[in-house]
Amino acid sequence: MNSGKKPYPIVLDKVWFHARTKPLIKDLSSTIAAEDGLTVILGPNGAGKSLLLRLCHGILPAHEGQVTWGGADDPGLKEHRQAMVFQRPVHLRRSAAGNIDFALKLHGMPKAKRAMRIEAALELTGLSRYQATPARLLSFGEQQRLALARAWALDPDLLLLDEPTANLDPAAQRLIEEVLLKMIADGTRVLMSSHDLNQARRLASHVIFLYRGRIKEQSAAVKFFDEPENDLAQAFLRGELLWWRRKAVFAPDPEKENDTF
Ligand SMILES: Nc1ncnc2c1ncn2[C@@H]1O[C@H](COP(=O)(O)OP(=O)(O)O)[C@@H](O)[C@H]1O
Ligand SMILES: [Mg+2]
Repeated sequence: MNSGKKPYPIVLDKVWFHARTKPLIKDLSSTIAAEDGLTVILGPNGAGKSLLLRLCHGILPAHEGQVTWGGADDPGLKEHRQAMVFQRPVHLRRSAAGNIDFALKLHGMPKAKRAMRIEAALELTGLSRYQATPARLLSFGEQQRLALARAWALDPDLLLLDEPTANLDPAAQRLIEEVLLKMIADGTRVLMSSHDLNQARRLASHVIFLYRGRIKEQSAAVKFFDEPENDLAQAFLRGELLWWRRKAVFAPDPEKENDTF
């Protein structure tokens, strides 16, 4: 992650992604600009949030359309200076500090700089006292924070996080949110998925509202929460777009698309 090339803007132009014949991301166009702060990809379960994050990280190919980073379509991630944390991060059988060190070494960071970054990352995530603890002995919340520490230590321009607080209790969730706010204050740009409205209200400066593989609304968070324009976004904000039903309570979709699910 030592090239000077910026990953911005990430532009998705008429992107489709399908599994076999089933379209999952549908004609999606969006620009992730270089603005400060945190953008939340918000939407019910199964909306396509994880797929969209993977497309933005270049680890999933667009089947149709194009994704570009800073004007280039080469998903050579090292040059894009972005790091992703998956929903269920995996840690190696070594200490918390050792896990971060491994990632930094992999990215070619010199040893002297690595020690400084590891210390700063553990400090930022409140894990300093666990630096020598085997990562796999940490609690779920601590492991999630360690994954954030590992990604942040790479000094990325953009952090992509897939539901970083899913399955955590409220206290552990709060700790993660505090870490995210510190990272943002430190100048890190974050693109994060969440199905948690309250969390999005607490953290987001921008919102991308995704539903059944399509962006229904993309705007500043204040605008999205105060004056959403899209019917489905309004229903989601009222808590009426129930993600655990096969069919949403709110119907019909104004675009009357031929979705099979
Ligand atoms: N590789 C895949 N093959 C088939 N279906 C998939 C695949 N990946 C995701 N899906 C489906 O695509 C939809 C969107 O998935 P996902 O992006 O994980 O949603 P979200 O993260 O919003 O919950 C879901 O219905 C999911 O089951
Ligand atoms: Mg997901």
